[in-house]
Amino acid sequence: MRRKLAAGNWKMNMTPTQTKEFLKEIAPLVKGAESEVLFFVPAIDIPAAVEAAAGTGIGIGAENFYFEDKGAFTGEISLEMIKDAGVSYVLIGHSERRTIFSENDEWINKKLLKAIECKMKPMLCCGESLEIREKGETLSWIEAQIRSAFNGVSADQAAATVIAYEPIWAIGTGKVATTDQAQEVCGMIRKLIAEIYDADTADKIRILYGGSVNPENAAELFAQPDIDGGLVGGASLKTSFEKIVKA
Ligand code: PGA
Repeated sequence: MRRKLAAGNWKMNMTPTQTKEFLKEIAPLVKGAESEVLFFVPAIDIPAAVEAAAGTGIGIGAENFYFEDKGAFTGEISLEMIKDAGVSYVLIGHSERRTIFSENDEWINKKLLKAIECKMKPMLCCGESLEIREKGETLSWIEAQIRSAFNGVSADQAAATVIAYEPIWAIGTGKVATTDQAQEVCGMIRKLIAEIYDADTADKIRILYGGSVNPENAAELFAQPDIDGGLVGGASLKTSFEKIVKA
């Protein structure tokens, strides 16, 4: 049985002070939740988040890292730094990193391999633009992203990875994918994992939907057979995220 996962992605929001206040408020609301709860936070907020989340069951993830161990990479943080700060999850391949910060498939593959090597739990994002969807090329686009990201990853390692399907046109737009659209792609990703690896790996891997998930639409999305939870941006900055966790 795959455990459901409700993950927040704060993006460039929340100061360390706000981080502590927010986690103190939300922790009792999600205590004892059936699903796993996790927030990806900006690097500067990690120590405050780890401290505030200690003993609450809430996991803390890093929104970004660089795949080299150390050295002359001004402005970057390494997995060793993140791990030492008490973080377990890392987000890889978010569409904002791909488009605004020009991270390509090769980088994303390197980051996934590095995260696995460092025994971190990676969450890999994939998703198509509106243009790709309108051309009817969504499934082949997602397939190419997944095949490239998982190059060199073993079946056991893949099973421990989380995939987040996030159509770019649904991110931050309030325009959520229909449950059928979300299920279609998440189901296709699971079939693809079975094809690349095997049925057991496909059965174990958790696949989330992300893009304008909110307390109103979460339950229906998460009830789909191949959707194991959500990656939530804007709605994870409010304590009503509790409702998404419970959905
Ligand atoms: P959103 O963002 O929920 O604000 O659409 C989702 C994401 O980018 O992970």
